[in-house]
Amino acid sequence: MSERTLAIIKPDAVKKHVIGDIIHRYEQAGLRPVAMRMMVMAKQTAEGFYAVHKSRPFFDSLCTFMSSGPVVVLILSGDNAIKKNRDLMGATDPAKADKGTIRAAHGANIEFNAVHGSDSPETAKQEIAYFFPEMDVVR
Ligand code: CMP
Repeated sequence: MSERTLAIIKPDAVKKHVIGDIIHRYEQAGLRPVAMRMMVMAKQTAEGFYAVHKSRPFFDSLCTFMSSGPVVVLILSGDNAIKKNRDLMGATDPAKADKGTIRAAHGANIEFNAVHGSDSPETAKQEIAYFFPEMDVVR
C-alpha cells in the first residue's frame, strides 16, 4: 500500500555534504520525494516538532542541534514507506545500526544521527502536516 512518511536530513549530514547520497538511497529503495524543503529551523520549530520528547534529558540539546544549521525536510512516498525508510535509516544509535544503513554510514552518535523518519502512520500524518501544506505535495 502506498503511503507517505516524513524524512529529515539533519544538520550533521548536510554539513558532511551527503544530501545527495541520502536522497539517492531513498530513490534506489523506491521512495519517491513528493515534497522537499531546505530550511534552518528556529529552535521553537524544533521544540514543537519533537514535543513528544519534551521530558527527556536530551530534549534541549536535540533541539539546539536540530536548529544549528540547514536541514532538508522531505515527504517520501512509496509502498510501505514508513517501514522502508526506517529500515534504510537503521537504529537510532549509529553504533547499533546495521551495516549499509544511512545511520551506520553517516551518523556519529545517538544524537547526531544524520536522519529522522516518522515511526508510525499517525506520526507521519502529524509530521507531514507540521512542515507541508497539502498544496505543496506533488502527485
Ligand atoms: P530521531 O529519529 O530524530 O528522533 C528523536 C531524536 O532524539 C533521535 O533521532 C536522536 O537524534 C535523539 N535521541 C534519541 N535518544 C537520544 C539519547 N539517548 N541521547 C541523545 N539524543 C537522543
